[in-house]
Formats: sequence, structure tokens, C-alpha cells
Amino acid sequence: MKHILIINGPNLNLLGLREPGVYGSRTFDSYLDELRSAYPGVDIAYYQSNHEGALIDKLHDEGFNADGIILNAGAYTHTSIALHDAIKAITAPVVEVHISNVHQREDFRHHSCISAACRGVICGFGLDSYRLALEALIA
Ligand code: DQA
Repeated sequence: MKHILIINGPNLNLLGLREPGVYGSRTFDSYLDELRSAYPGVDIAYYQSNHEGALIDKLHDEGFNADGIILNAGAYTHTSIALHDAIKAITAPVVEVHISNVHQREDFRHHSCISAACRGVICGFGLDSYRLALEALIA
């Protein structure tokens, strides 16, 4: 069985409440239930934190064991060299995901500090971005 970890960064605990016009009105827990049901052969672990250091600790803890990591680093995507370095430090492939198409949004969302360290990037497909990343990691 493949072990895949989904990591969500800051403010993503508020999915369903936060800017529903941008991020939709569904909670991540509800989406995760559906994803797990659709992939019974994949062990999908989940972690969310609003703290940069906690995200880095999680990458260190799981990044040598997981078969893949799906990372939505939220706004830290655009600021965190430390997350870039953590992704480079581990062996598990990391797919960067975004719910929204960051390239259609404000200029400050167009640059990612982590893309170059990731195996690939998926953005703009709503919550389905996570499933597309999962497909890529288990292919
Ligand atoms: C996001 C896009 C980021 O720019 C933003 O800061 C987020 C969410 C997305 O999933 O679309 O928090 O990563």
C-alpha cells in the first residue's frame, strides 16, 4: 500500500468558510473523506498547520518514509526559502498544489519559493487539484 501525506499550510483549516468565491464552500475534512473512499488502496494521511516551523518539522518527520507528499503551503509558498530547503532535504517526492489558479490572481502570488524543489505543480482545479496530485504520485 502506498503511503501519501497531504500537508496543508496556513489558513487552509478555514476551507469552507474562507473566501468561498475563491476556495469553494466545502470543508477539507469532507473532501478528504471522499478522496479516501475513492482510493481505498492508498493510505492518505493528513496534516495541517498555520506555523511554518511545524510544516518543516512534518516534512522532516515523514519525508523519508512517505511515498509522496502533496503540499499546499498556502501563503508560505510565496515567502518561504526554509520550506524550499526542507523539500530539498527529504527523499519523498513533493507535489505543490493550489486550489486557486495563483497566476490569475495578485502579482505576489505568481512567484513560488518552493516550485523548483518540488516534483511538479498543480493549481487551479479547486479541491480536485489534490486528487490530480495523488494520481501523479501513485502513477
Ligand atoms: C493557495 C494560494 C495561495 O496564494 C494562498 O495564500 C493560499 C491558498 C491555494 O490553494 O490556492 O492560502 O495556496
